[in-house]
Formats: sequence, C-alpha cells, structure tokens
Amino acid sequence: MKAIVLNGTGGPGNLILAEIPIPSIKENEVLIATKAISINPVDAAATRMPELLNYVYQIKGDEKQIVLGWDVAGVVTAAGTAVTRFKTGDEVFGMVKFPGQANGYAEYVAAPEGELVLKPRNISFNEAAGATLAALTAWQSLVTNGNVKKGDKVVITGASGGVGHYAVQIAKYFGAYVIAVASAANKDFVLSLGADEFIDYKTQSFEDHIQDADIVHDAVWSDDVHHVQRSLKAIKSGGKLLSLIVDLDEDMQQKLKAKEVAGMRVYVQANRDDLQTIADLLERGAIKTYVSATFPLEQTTKAHGLIQTKNAVGKIIVTV
Ligand SMILES: NC(=O)c1ccc[n+]([C@@H]2O[C@H](COP(=O)([O-])OP(=O)(O)OC[C@H]3O[C@@H](n4cnc5c(N)ncnc54)[C@H](OP(=O)(O)O)[C@@H]3O)[C@@H](O)[C@H]2O)c1
Repeated sequence: MKAIVLNGTGGPGNLILAEIPIPSIKENEVLIATKAISINPVDAAATRMPELLNYVYQIKGDEKQIVLGWDVAGVVTAAGTAVTRFKTGDEVFGMVKFPGQANGYAEYVAAPEGELVLKPRNISFNEAAGATLAALTAWQSLVTNGNVKKGDKVVITGASGGVGHYAVQIAKYFGAYVIAVASAANKDFVLSLGADEFIDYKTQSFEDHIQDADIVHDAVWSDDVHHVQRSLKAIKSGGKLLSLIVDLDEDMQQKLKAKEVAGMRVYVQANRDDLQTIADLLERGAIKTYVSATFPLEQTTKAHGLIQTKNAVGKIIVTV
C-alpha cells in the first residue's frame, strides 16, 4: 500500500511517499481503508523535533519505518475476532493510538474498535476526519475541564484554527457568550460560527477589553508563558484558565491562586464517549467541520507546509 514515511526529523521535506505492507490487525482492531486524514500542529512539530516525535510516535527503537498520522476516517475492510461493534463496510472515524504508532498516513490503518465511532451518513469523510483530535481537544477543554454552561463569558484564542473553530461552536452549543480572538481576515469566519464578539489580536489586546471572563480557552500556538499570563488578566475571580500549550508553572500557579482562578493544562485523550457525542453533534448539524484545504496523500508535504504557517483556517485534510 501507499504510505507517507518520515525519513528522519528536519521538516516536511522528509515526508516521502513509499510502498509498505498493509498492517495486520489484532483481535480488538479493525482494518480501515482510509479515505481522509486530518493534519494537526503536532504532526508538523513531530517532523522537526526529535523529542516530540519520540513522544507522539512512542518510538521503541525497532521501527521498520515511521509513519505519522492519527486522525482517520474510512471504511472497515476487516474486523478482528474480538470486535463486536463494527463489520466490513462500516464507515468510521477516530483519533487512533494517540500518542503511539497509528501509522495513519497510509491507504490502510489498523485501529482499535474502542477508539472509533460510526461516521454520520450526512457528513463527508473529510468532515469526519477533521472532527477527531481537534474536536476532542475543544470538547475536553471546554466541557470536561471547563464545565462550560449557559451564560458563561468565554474567550477563545486561536478561534479560527482547527481546535478553535470547534471550540467556538461547542461553547455556543452550551449557550455561552463567546468572544473569539483571531486575525482580521478571519473575522467573518468566526462570527459565522456563532461567536458574539470578535477581537483582532494583531491590533488589539484582548485582556485590555475583557477582564470578567468565566473561561479563557488559550490555544495560541506558542509556548510563550506571557500569553497565559495575559489570559489570566481577562478572567474574573472564580473563573477558569484552560491552557492547551503552556504548562502552568509554580509562578503561574501562585498568580492563579492569588486571583482565585482555576488553571488547567489540557491534554487531549482518546475517549469513545466524547467522540460519540461529537459524532451526534455533527449529525444534528449542531457543530460543523470547516475544511479549508485538501491535498492528496502524495502531497502530504504541502499539507504540512500549510499547517506550519500557524494560520490554518479550520481543518486541513489529506485525501486517500
Ligand atoms: N493540549 C492538547 O492536547 C492540544 C491538542 C490540540 C492542539 N493543541 C495545540 O493548540 C494549538 C492550536 O491548535 P490548532 O489545531 O487549532 O492549530 P491551527 O489549526 O494551526 O490554528 C492556529 C490558529 O492560531 C491562530 N493564531 C496564530 N497566532 C495567534 C496569536 N498570536 N493570537 C491569536 N491567535 C493566533 C491562527 O489564527 P489567524 O490565522 O487568524 O492568525 C490560527 O487560526 C497548537 O499549538 C496545538 O499544538 C494542543
């Protein structure tokens, strides 16, 4: 089968089209004929940073090749002996073996049934593939950790990106008042997702305008600790800071305590119940995946180049 092999760290130029064997499945796994794969910042970072690659791919030292990719949608072509929920022909999607060796950039992927749900019939494979790591992150940040509720004032930074565009829709679904932070070019896009207010981060500082947020979902692709400190300024006492990128160190913990704000560092986790909820919301049209660009498998390098700009809008999808 065709796959995109990572020929060492150094950047997206090391993603090479190759022929590798179709994976075998374990008893609790299904074999998926891949239709669509979504690309995330972590994929791009893994092509550059050996430590991150080791973590997300869980390198053991005996790999024949390294194939990135965790977010897949496709059709089940075989099921292991212990599989009970899926059969050949089912259309499924999920975030597979993250972190781990999912080998998602390939024509076939072996996936545990517990990490998959059925794709709603009324959405495309591209839309389903997008609603995996990014949608799970937005859900687990705002709902699992943030306990977002009706009337909450919620600031969402990175609102036009993969995670952010789901976060805006999820917060609105719960009846929150949403302030979306993005660049001016994406103002209409984030307002079309339901955001109540827009702040252009290139000309305004959101913390100068908002100091009474119940929740800030901080998803700016930067490990600059100052960004979470700015987020803290925007939150009222008793509120919550959800940090997707920056660890909240001792200094930050003290600042949070002084202001009586709960701070949480969010790490996305596979969770079939969460994914099923996302599938249900997609099916009902309560949330949508916005796909801004698609590339064929052979052009995965271009997809990485686009996510690496840090200005992706919605989701970038590789089709198979
Ligand atoms: N902790 C976790 O488990 C977890 C999970 C998923 C993602 N993440 C992290 O979350 C971040 C966002 O992921 P993503 O998939 O949404 O990325 P993405 O699709 O690449 O989106 C990036 C977004 O960030 C915006 N942006 C860039 N610089 C900004 C700034 N200075 N202020 C405000 N917005 C800015 C861009 O908006 P404009 O184009 O409008 O500038 C763009 O929409 C990444 O760092 C990713 O690694 C963490």
